[in-house]
This record gives sequence, C-alpha cells and structure tokens, in this order.
Amino acid sequence: MANLAINGGNKAVSHLTPYSSLGKEEARAVAEVMETGCLSRFLGAWGDDFLGGDKVLELESLWSSKFNCKYSVSVNSATSGLYAAIGAVGVEPGDEVIVPPYTMSATAMAPLVYGGIPVFADIEADTFCIDIKSVEAKISKKTRAIIAVNLFGHPARLQELKALAERHGIFLIEDNAQAPLAKEGAHYSGTIGHIGVFSLNYHKHIHAGEGGVCVTDDSKLAARLQMIRNHAENAVEPAQVEDLSNLVGFNYRLTELGAAIATEQLKKAETLVQGRQEIAEKLTAAMAGLNGLTPPAVRDNCRHVYYTWSMKYDEAVVGVPRKVFCEALKAEGVPVFEGYVRPLYLLPIFQKRIALGAGGFPFNLSNTTYEKGLCPVTERMHEKELMGLGVCSYLLPENELKQVIDALHKVYDARKELQSQTRQTAAAK
Ligand SMILES: Cc1ncc(COP(=O)(O)O)c(C=O)c1O
Repeated sequence: MANLAINGGNKAVSHLTPYSSLGKEEARAVAEVMETGCLSRFLGAWGDDFLGGDKVLELESLWSSKFNCKYSVSVNSATSGLYAAIGAVGVEPGDEVIVPPYTMSATAMAPLVYGGIPVFADIEADTFCIDIKSVEAKISKKTRAIIAVNLFGHPARLQELKALAERHGIFLIEDNAQAPLAKEGAHYSGTIGHIGVFSLNYHKHIHAGEGGVCVTDDSKLAARLQMIRNHAENAVEPAQVEDLSNLVGFNYRLTELGAAIATEQLKKAETLVQGRQEIAEKLTAAMAGLNGLTPPAVRDNCRHVYYTWSMKYDEAVVGVPRKVFCEALKAEGVPVFEGYVRPLYLLPIFQKRIALGAGGFPFNLSNTTYEKGLCPVTERMHEKELMGLGVCSYLLPENELKQVIDALHKVYDARKELQSQTRQTAAAK
C-alpha cells in the first residue's frame, strides 16, 4: 500500500505552478499607455470624457463584439458592477432581491447598498447554482430582481430564470464573475439576464489585477450603469435624464492601464478558457470508477469553464469523513477545498441584522429570516458533500496534473487505512 504523506510517506505532488495568463502582449499594452502619460481619462462631469479614455472604449467595444451584446460598461471590479446593476434596475429600500447563499459575498451585499433585502433561495445539488424552484417559491410582491450566479464556471438555468423573471415583471441579473465564455445553448452566460456582470480580478480566467464589465442589451440600463459608475449627480442635468432614482454616483471607473491589460486578455480568452476546460475534463476522466466521488455535473447544452473543479463526496460510499479524506489529500500536496464559503445568511450581517447604520436598516423593512437550516441543500453541500480544486489557481501542466491525479488515486486506494485510523482516533477520544 502506498505510504500516505499524512502518515509520514512521500508527497505525491512536489510542486504546483501558480496559474498565470499574462504575457508580452499585456506588458506591451501597459508600456504604450504609460508612454501617453494618461492613466485614466474619465472625468466626473458630462462631456467628452464622461465615458472614459481610448483604452476603456476599446475594451468595451471588443467585449460587446466578443459576447454578442449591445452594451458593455467597464467597472473597477465585479463588486462595483453588481452594485451598479442593482442601482440600475431600480431597487428601492425594502425591495427584495433573490440571491443564492453559496457565492462570493458581494452578490448578496449588492441589494443592501440600495436598502434592498437579500432573500436567499437554495441551490441545485448537482450544479451548485441557484435552484429555480426555490427562487419561484421566494418571489413575493416585493421582489424586484433575481441575481443568478454562474458558480464555479457553470451557467445557472438562465433562460428559465429569465422567463420566470419576465413573467413576474422583475429583472434577472447574472453574476458571471466566475464564468467567462461559459454557455447555455448558443448564448454566453452573462448575456442572457437583463444585466450580466463579469470579474477581471486576479483570480479569474482572464484578469487585469482588478476590474469588471457589465453587459446588457438595454440602452436605458446601459446609460444608468454609466451614470452610477461615474458621479451621476453631476451628469443627469446636462444629459437630460428624467429618472433620478438611484443616480447617486460612485467612482467605479476602470483605468486605462486596466482596460489595456483586459483587452489583451480578452483577445486570448478563448485559448485560456479552453486550457482550463481541458484540465478539468482530464481530472473528470481520471475519476472514473472512484465510487463515491462524483465529478462536476455539466447540464445538456451547457459549456462549463471550470473556475474550479468542484465535485461531490459521498462519505457513506467512500467510508471516510470528507475532512479526513481532504486532510490526506492536502498532506499529499493537493490544495483541495472542503465546501466553499459558509452559506452567506450565516454571516454576522444577517444573523445580527445590522447593515446600514446601527438601527437594523434595511432588515427592519422586511420579515425575511436568515436562520440556520434556511437552505438545506446549500448547507449539506457545504458541510458534507462539496470538495474541489481551484483550476484557475494553478497552471497544471501535464506532469503536475498527473501528480494531482496520482494523489487522488493514492488517497482513494488507501481509504480502508484512513477508515481504520478514523475509528481508532474516535475510540481514543
Ligand atoms: C461569484 C463572484 N461574484 C462576485 C465577485 C467579486 O468580484 P470582484 O473581486 O471583481 O469584485 C467574485 C470574486 O471572486 C465572485 O467569485
């Protein structure tokens, strides 16, 4: 039997190279911007510079043609993009916005910025994306929008969610931070909802250090996003904007440097994303026959772009608690994660119902509750079943990928040994 690293044996994985998508093209693009001396041309007043400089405009134009959408509005993060999207669709204090609890926190913070109430809907047990049945059950007269997250690189049920939203006269916003170039049918994720938000932060398939892009086909929403991005209050009068709701401006502007880098990244996005997809598919293939480990699900007609390779673990079949299995893998040098983020409604902001000011606003406008047990599938995935590998965190060339796969098999094959160790540890307590 292979000697497990957790028991003093050799590690299966000697080194994993961090993922990097940057090359000479980005360096050249940055140098060109530096030479102009103008690192951002935005001005927070209506006029020629209200929409930013050449590089920002170039990125937005390229983004729209790549993703087949009418308008792209760059921002300095996906967080800013989500906040702007919630403002743009007109969320008012006390309005409800349905969100999944299994996502990066910014998804659920966005409604709060406008006094909106996040209402959590559960997730699907296979794709980990928001469950449309749970969404439907949570729609009320106060619901203004749904935020669907294309989690880990897999699209949520976007067409169905869009149809549901339209039946109720509400908006679908896609948090597409983790899923550039993912597809549902013929459409890119991010472009199916009324607004889609992409991230360009350092951890993503393509990045500019920080940054984001909002996309929409609706000219009014695009104009509102542009306003919120750049000190709307100064621009509404000269721009003859009538609807002033939520047009309190921020500075969500992307620099010329960020835009120049993002443009180069976008040009090679297809190759970069394909590379991640191939690695994930090899991992999935290598898991065949390992009963109790279910590789990531891909819905029919969907393209999964594998921000992470998130699979399901069945303790009853493997015979070892997930924690023990993951500890053994980590000891082998595989940086697996057990669960993802804690279901967001368990964060202090929801448990204590304190967000804006100390008086409980906006939660005091709503009867929505945030108790443990609210989203049982999410809690089960988090506490027991989900585990995975960050495919966008490591380069994983052939030799390193092989080591990771060998490690998974090594630990799986030693499950009886781990099982008896677990029993002994329990008996000793
Ligand atoms: C699902 C999701 N939404 C939003 C964000 C926020 O992105 P940013 O860091 O660009 O603000 C992230 C970042 O990791 C994310 O994964």
